[in-house]
Amino acid sequence: MANENKWGSNIAFILAMIGSAVGLGNIWRYPYVLYSNGGGAFYIPYLFAIITLAIPFIILEYGVGYNYQASFTKAIVKLKPKFEVYGWLLPVGIFIMTIYYSTIIGWDGIYFFLSFFKGWGTDPNTFLNVNLLQATDSLSGVSNFIPFIAIFMLIGWFFIWLISRKNLDKGLGKVCKIFVPLLFIVMIIIVIFSLTLPGAYIGLAELFDPDWSLLWHFDIWMAAFGQIFFSLSLGMGAGFTYASYTEDNIDLISSGICVIIANCAFENFAALGVFSILGYMSLQSGAPISEIVSQGTTLIFVAYPQVFNILGTIGLILGPMFFFTVYIAGLTSILSSFEVLSISIQNKFALTRRRAAGILCLVGALISMVYATSSGGYILGITDIFINNILVIFSVFVECILFAWIFKAERLIDFMNGRSKAFKLGKWWLAHVKYIIPVILVVIWFGGLGELLALKTTDSVIILTGLVLTLVIFSVIFTRLPAKSKEWFVTQERIK
Ligand code: PHE
Repeated sequence: MANENKWGSNIAFILAMIGSAVGLGNIWRYPYVLYSNGGGAFYIPYLFAIITLAIPFIILEYGVGYNYQASFTKAIVKLKPKFEVYGWLLPVGIFIMTIYYSTIIGWDGIYFFLSFFKGWGTDPNTFLNVNLLQATDSLSGVSNFIPFIAIFMLIGWFFIWLISRKNLDKGLGKVCKIFVPLLFIVMIIIVIFSLTLPGAYIGLAELFDPDWSLLWHFDIWMAAFGQIFFSLSLGMGAGFTYASYTEDNIDLISSGICVIIANCAFENFAALGVFSILGYMSLQSGAPISEIVSQGTTLIFVAYPQVFNILGTIGLILGPMFFFTVYIAGLTSILSSFEVLSISIQNKFALTRRRAAGILCLVGALISMVYATSSGGYILGITDIFINNILVIFSVFVECILFAWIFKAERLIDFMNGRSKAFKLGKWWLAHVKYIIPVILVVIWFGGLGELLALKTTDSVIILTGLVLTLVIFSVIFTRLPAKSKEWFVTQERIK
């Protein structure tokens, strides 16, 4: 592998991995997931998911990526040439995720800009849905293109291009070394400030108030697994790709555990901030938390602007800080999802990093324009469910079979243990990656399918069909196109 795809140091790898994990999933998804799935009681399925799924799987993913020092697709071709289509399916799927993720980053860019003068006005809800997104809950708005949104999305793509085209160490590595620590610092400032607001305790009491009865519900277990996958970027090829760029002397077990701890600490910390702010708002407006709390888009782009409005001048400082944090968190995540398809096409078609980044950014930016229409938010919601509930879970299942059984996870044990002082792998780890995780995945997959099948409108069926076709057609095209690189068939393994 050329030098353009190597981290300069192990710390660059760990920071980039934390950058990948800490993203929108931590700030806008987790607080609501925690609140709506039993509050304090959610920690039981959450910790269960970390221990049984996240820790064993991240080690497997890093280990195999490290071994092949190549893209996910090239590793699959080496393992089972007949599975090449699957080797493209995941990178193409994650590229689709990259495209809708860029949309949210674009929206956040708009709010960063507006936050300097509270440009969302006195009614942030109407501003978001009516003035800005002009949202429709169907495909009927797809012809209504909104240039203002498009411009901010293109700015996001410009950043991705600017960073991804450089050699790994000088681009991504450098960006993560600067921005990931900054992300934590700014978030700590925001959260500490939020905790001092009057009424913060109202929000926190509500957040952690445990509803133990929910532990008997399948949904909260599904929610915990879903959150852990998304938030840790598990099984999406990002960890695999980043680990393939590491130096020979890396301790992958400790690195994986470090990433998990940083990510989970960040999201729980973010939840403290979000709920303190909601508590403050509840005290000011007299409305109960249950009426104010919301998820995703509404939380970040409606509830937060409302709070910044109430906060007066402080809102003018806190607002830009907050939207900047979300931007950086999103950008360092999207760079990792972008990398997955990028390195695959570099490997097969003998492209330079620069070339691959140029082509993919152009294609991605063009396709992303679908989201700059009135139907953007609607299409985004369905795409998100499809990618996260169906594709990723299916893919992690196949990864377990390929990596744990065909590659043989046993091969990793001595090597990994030799590098790691604090933690050692043993039989329990093998049992997880070979049996326990695949069984859990099958169960969650059917749960996720149920949610998808509940979307019965014609428009959602059109979108889902479009997604499946795009995935399959592109994966087949990439498989059929002849390899331009001689090295495509030569893979040097690092672990004997
Ligand atoms: N982990 C990211 C988040 O929490 C999402 C992500 C998944 C990013 C996969 C890259 C790859 O927002």
